[in-house]
Amino acid sequence: MKVITEKSELKKEIELLKSQGKTLGFVPTMGALHKGHLSLVQRAIEENDALVVSIFVNPTQFNNPDDLVTYPRTLERDVTLLQTASNDILVYAPTVEDIYGEHVVSVNYDFDGLEHKMEGKFRPGHFDGVGTIVKRLFEIVTPNTAYFGEKDFQQLAIIKKMVEMYNVPVSIVPCEILREDSGLAMSSRNVRLKPEYLEASPFIYETLKTSKIKFGTESAKDVVEWVESEFKNHPLLELEYFVIADVDTLETIENKKENTLYRAFVAVYADDIRLIDNLALN
Ligand code: PAF
Repeated sequence: MKVITEKSELKKEIELLKSQGKTLGFVPTMGALHKGHLSLVQRAIEENDALVVSIFVNPTQFNNPDDLVTYPRTLERDVTLLQTASNDILVYAPTVEDIYGEHVVSVNYDFDGLEHKMEGKFRPGHFDGVGTIVKRLFEIVTPNTAYFGEKDFQQLAIIKKMVEMYNVPVSIVPCEILREDSGLAMSSRNVRLKPEYLEASPFIYETLKTSKIKFGTESAKDVVEWVESEFKNHPLLELEYFVIADVDTLETIENKKENTLYRAFVAVYADDIRLIDNLALN
C-alpha cells in the first residue's frame, strides 16, 4: 500500500500503470472510512486493474465551518481498513496546498439548476466545492472509472452532469446505499452521533420506507405532509426537508407522471449532526 501526499508523485505512479495498459478505478473519499466506502473499493478492485483511493477533507464544500473542524480525520485507521481490501491500492492523501495551492476557493458552476435543489438550498456553495474538487481529482488521477455512493444522490447527479458538460473521459458508477442493521445509512458522520440520537436514527429509514408504501396509493403532497407531521411529533430528530423528486431532473414532483422514476430525499438534524438519506419510490 502506497500512501502518497503529492500529486507529482501520484502522477508518476499512474503514468507507469497506464504505460502497462492497466485500467484505473478511482474512489474519492473524505476519509473516516466505513463499510460503505469499502463496498465501493471492493467493486472498483473487481472492475479495474489498479485503484486509487483519495482521502481528502475538502474545505471548499463545507458551508458550515464547525462541520469542517469537527469532521473526523482518521488517516492511519483508514489505511489499515483499506489494507483489508487490498495491499495494492494507491492512497492519495494530499494537503490542502497540494490540491489548491494558495487559493482555497471553488469555481462557480452552473449544473443546469441541479445545484440549487435540496442540499443546494440548505448548503450554499456546497456543490461548487464538490464540483471543484472532483474535477481537480479527475484531472490528477485520470481514472477510467469512478465510484460514488447513492447516499449522496444529488452529488452523483451533479458529477454526472459535470462529466457530460466538460467531456471528462471517465465513466461514473453509482453504488447502492449501505445501511447499518438498524437501517441507518452508513456515513462518516455517524460516529459523532450521541447514543440517544443513534438509537433514534432508524426512524429516518423507517419513515422513508413507509413513505414509499404510501406513495403507491396517495398523492405526493399527502405523503410529504405525513412525513412532516411524523417528524414534528418526534422528540429528538428535526426535519430539514423531505422532498419527492424526479430522479433525472431532481425537480420536486407536482403530480405523478407515467414512466417517471421518483425518489424521496430527506435531511434531518440529530442534535448537531446532519444526516441525509434517500429511497427509490417506484
Ligand atoms: O462524497 C464525498 O465523500 C465527497 O463529497 C467527495 C466526492 C469525496 C468530494 O470531496
